[in-house]
Amino acid sequence: MRTDLERIRQSALAELDRCEDEAALEQARLRYLGKKGELTAVLRGMRDVPPEERPAMGELVNTVKAEVEQRLEAIRQRLADARLAKSLSEDRLDVTLPGSAFPRGRVHPLTQVQAEIVAIFREMGFSVATGPEIEDDYHNFEALNIPHDHPARDMHDTFFVAGDRVLRTHTSPVQIRVMESSRPPLRVIAPGVVYRQDDDVTHSPMFLQIEGFLVDEVVTFGDLKGVLSAFLRRFFGSGTRVRFRPSFFPFTEPSAEIDIGCVICGGSGSAAGGASCRICKGSGWLEILGSGMIDPNVFRFVGYDPEAVSGFAFGMGVERLTMLKHGIADIRLFYESDLKFLRQF
Ligand code: PHE
Repeated sequence: MRTDLERIRQSALAELDRCEDEAALEQARLRYLGKKGELTAVLRGMRDVPPEERPAMGELVNTVKAEVEQRLEAIRQRLADARLAKSLSEDRLDVTLPGSAFPRGRVHPLTQVQAEIVAIFREMGFSVATGPEIEDDYHNFEALNIPHDHPARDMHDTFFVAGDRVLRTHTSPVQIRVMESSRPPLRVIAPGVVYRQDDDVTHSPMFLQIEGFLVDEVVTFGDLKGVLSAFLRRFFGSGTRVRFRPSFFPFTEPSAEIDIGCVICGGSGSAAGGASCRICKGSGWLEILGSGMIDPNVFRFVGYDPEAVSGFAFGMGVERLTMLKHGIADIRLFYESDLKFLRQF
């Protein structure tokens, strides 16, 4: 048994020394120290040893077992150190490599133009108001002097929601809501989304408008012309020609549509090769704003005395202004989230 033990000791230590990785080491451990291992078998064989020899034999077996365990532990440690050293040298982090950049987002062109328009009016002392996109018939039509059977309702291709609710067809109802809850003097602009059943290269069923109005004791058509001309020259450039044309809106009297000299053909109406300008259709003018003096009936609806106050109102489409400012021909580009388009702004 002693010779067996010495043989096992030598072959165990030799085998451990040969192990080159942790898997091989585990194999060796099982072979000698596992449940069915050779050393374990020797321990089990102790019961066949005569009682008087047992203490000495026991001690010897335990010494060998301890020696093998120690060697195993030492080699395990050495292999673990080597593995760590290897990964430290191979998986080194090169902090000088360029990082992966976070792509920079940008503000949508419509949002940029809306913010620019709002900023120009804020400089002129206007404050910003908003209202609901789902409106009631009263605020979208009735209080704006558009009765139920009025033909002007045809101008608004309305989306009806339910009952007397509609998706607002313009931002003018914000005028009514602000006047209902406050008293003049008022200088307000109201940017927001509006909806109409309309869909082609220059019309979208959902688009942005900016409404503006000013109410005070005495406001004249001259004030309207001055404020809106100043705005248009700030927005399109100081040389911009501005023209006021009689028009009709149920909520303003008199009403005017405002045109600017075509930004594409410079007002000549013609394009290269003798063709007429595609954008202004040869007229040399572009329709930009609806406007007018607030109708006395509108003041009555909100409880103002039309003899004591006067004011003007105007409305414009943000998509149209953006298309003209940047020479964009198709309104749908704004809603397609195509980064090749959006990154140009
Ligand atoms: N609400 C009108 C529209 O959507 C525009 C407008 C606003 C006209 C205010 C005059 C005064 O067409």
